Amino acid sequence: MTVEAQQFTATANDLARKRSVHRALTAKIPAEKGQSAWELSHSRPHPNLGDNQVLIETSYVALNPFDWQGVAFKYGIGEEAKVMGRDGAGVIVDVGKEVKRFKQGDRVWFCANSSASGTGAFQEYSVHSASEIGHTPSHLTDEKAATLGTGLITAGVALFRTLGLSLDDLDPQRAAKQQQRARAPRAGADDAPWLLIWGGAGITGVYLIELARLLGYRVICSASPVNHEYVRSLGADVVLDRWSDPADLVKSIRKATNDNVRIAIDNVGGKTAALCHQVLRGSASWRKENDVSVDSDDDTTPGQLVPLAGSPKEITTSSSDGSDSDAVRKVDSLRISFSTTFYNHPEFSEALLDKFDKLLESESLTPARIRLVPGGLSGIERGLEDLRHGRVPGGYKLVARLSDTPDLGSLSGQAGGTKRSREEIELGNEEADGETQDDKSAEREEQTQAPSKKRTKTADASNGTVEAETVGSKRAKEEQPDDKIPPTAEANVQTTAQPPARSAIVA
Ligand SMILES: NC(=O)c1ccc[n+]([C@@H]2O[C@H](COP(=O)([O-])OP(=O)(O)OC[C@H]3O[C@@H](n4cnc5c(N)ncnc54)[C@H](OP(=O)(O)O)[C@@H]3O)[C@@H](O)[C@H]2O)c1
Repeated sequence: MTVEAQQFTATANDLARKRSVHRALTAKIPAEKGQSAWELSHSRPHPNLGDNQVLIETSYVALNPFDWQGVAFKYGIGEEAKVMGRDGAGVIVDVGKEVKRFKQGDRVWFCANSSASGTGAFQEYSVHSASEIGHTPSHLTDEKAATLGTGLITAGVALFRTLGLSLDDLDPQRAAKQQQRARAPRAGADDAPWLLIWGGAGITGVYLIELARLLGYRVICSASPVNHEYVRSLGADVVLDRWSDPADLVKSIRKATNDNVRIAIDNVGGKTAALCHQVLRGSASWRKENDVSVDSDDDTTPGQLVPLAGSPKEITTSSSDGSDSDAVRKVDSLRISFSTTFYNHPEFSEALLDKFDKLLESESLTPARIRLVPGGLSGIERGLEDLRHGRVPGGYKLVARLSDTPDLGSLSGQAGGTKRSREEIELGNEEADGETQDDKSAEREEQTQAPSKKRTKTADASNGTVEAETVGSKRAKEEQPDDKIPPTAEANVQTTAQPPARSAIVA
């Protein structure tokens, strides 16, 4: 760039900031096939502040599966560019006149409603209802606080609204004791109820494990072997190898829990939700074969399933008319809803967030591990591709630092500010075409359980375009061409396959 061009660019950047405009990542349905849905704007006006809202200057945002799903399956976006994003952390710079819970200068984290552009997370300034954000304690960095948003709020809504557990049981005093207990080796003679989490190393799984233990449940979950130690450190009692044969997994869960799991939360998709359903209904024949008896009261209460990523598919029954004579209990499948419980429901959202404030302050809750995507807002599109194609190791949340976003003039007109090969762009659209919202969990399962040709094609396309010491830098190593090879975590990046554990139960 010439000196004149540089000077012009610097002046343009200064002027933009003075005019109360800021940088934001928007998405819209592309006008033409092959175009990126994402665009980085440098001149988005600051959003208007409502009486019950706060204006937040965001320093870090975090990436969610929902962010790519909305764009790929065209829900929550339209023809007009809209600011996307759910999770972030920063500082309050202005408060509406009705706001009591917060003041200017408070550090906060949020799970944005993102129904309108002003509330989307992927921008430097956004507005949020004061009843829907949490305080960031002084010991927590914004980088870590940004990971809390959707994962922690989903876990809270699932447990305390969808399943109807009592928030009063999440007492911070009790939590401190529970946490010590969670870190201590299990005594083995516990009669606390079981809670099954399919996908324990996903971000929602991480927070579910922590909250379930703080509520006094015994947790059984599935995860890749490389994450077993991690999920155990959060409080999981029994961890199953997610790469084992599904029928073996169901049997292992029955064995570990005496066929007495009455609550299950699935974070993966319809097929694994169906496995949870199978566990919850219990099995008369398995009990007979294994000489196991369960208190009959436990069987009269229906099992409760919360399928977060798709309704149970292909539920197996033992007879052709769909009845199931082997089942010992009924199963209720419960739908989670943020709009009828959390957003615009201050009586619940404030009570939940006040509890979380206390648990975070007392360090009874540990935020998920993080990985920084390069380029701030301009790196988000790329990070979402990594999430979509199962290239992010479990228990890690991708975060972007907004100050890393390149200024005007340094982007060279690339879509979303990140250079992508034509092949990758085409692949993204090809996959989205013709799919419905319900297909999203199926796609996730296909990519995470048995990485397909699609995944290999993307891996080839993405080679050689990544930066150092970022999620992108590890991409080439993490791409596993062999469908059978489970992914590895950052500290354990390996080029060779890790052999599957002999037994599904490893702890
Ligand atoms: N309905 C709602 O309101 C709502 C709210 C939040 C999330 N969700 C949905 O729930 C899903 C999870 O979200 P998230 O943010 O928690 O995801 P995430 O952090 O991206 O989860 C990724 C992890 O899931 C694990 N996983 C994938 N397939 C698995 C399988 N077959 N068995 C066991 N574990 C498996 C993997 O763990 P390993 O590395 O151990 O293999 C992977 O690392 C997404 O589809 C999201 O859209 C829905």
